Amino acid sequence: MIYETHTHFDDKAFDNDRDDAVKRAMAAGVTRFINVGSSMETSRTSIELTRRYTGFCAAVGVHPEETGDLCEDDMTVLAEYTNDDRVVAIGEIGLDYYWDEPERDIQKRWFARQLALARKVRLPVIIHSREAAADTYDILRSERADEVGGIMHCYSYGVEMAKQFLDLGFCLGVGGVVTFKNGRKLKEVVEYAPLERIVTETDSPYMAPVPMRGKRNSSEYLPFIIEEIAKINGMDAGEVEEVTFNNAVRIFGNI
Ligand code: NI
Repeated sequence: MIYETHTHFDDKAFDNDRDDAVKRAMAAGVTRFINVGSSMETSRTSIELTRRYTGFCAAVGVHPEETGDLCEDDMTVLAEYTNDDRVVAIGEIGLDYYWDEPERDIQKRWFARQLALARKVRLPVIIHSREAAADTYDILRSERADEVGGIMHCYSYGVEMAKQFLDLGFCLGVGGVVTFKNGRKLKEVVEYAPLERIVTETDSPYMAPVPMRGKRNSSEYLPFIIEEIAKINGMDAGEVEEVTFNNAVRIFGNI
């Protein structure tokens, strides 16, 4: 049984074959899916998917790049969404200094605000952090995010930072990058981190693993990621599958 901790099946990339794509993922052994919101709109569509497909749960939250027009009323709406049993996390939220839009103060403000919401509703968080390691860590600490925990999604920093996020109680989301030839930094992190602190994800439709790199990504490719994690750790893929599945259950609950 494979746990997909980060997918966007509501994305328009799946408009022509969504049902089939989900079926193929299930046939590949994926039994649980977290469909992750990245805006007010996709938080809502993520919840809709949980009505349609077995094994689907939703995360609701606003990605840093989408925070430019947020207002306090949106936080009320997100809080209402969390009353739904199938909503199991706040995310994806965080900081993105690669695109650097909107300005950093706005990103920081809504990151902190959504962490406060997560703490209030007692849900774990799914963090998007790109080229913003130090600020991400500082805000997680100042907002006491260790009280809810969660995932550093698409983990992209080195071993040093990994230690800090692990010490804060977070797990590391590992996806397609681990299969890339130039993914050495992530391979080192996977070797360093205890397997009990790693969860598997695709971030589909983005970031397809080798040998599908460059194509539309989908949860059905998770076995390629699991095989690579197993190879790095000199383990059996079945063991990696089982341990990472149980890790996600610990984070999101037995839903
Ligand atoms: Ni994502």
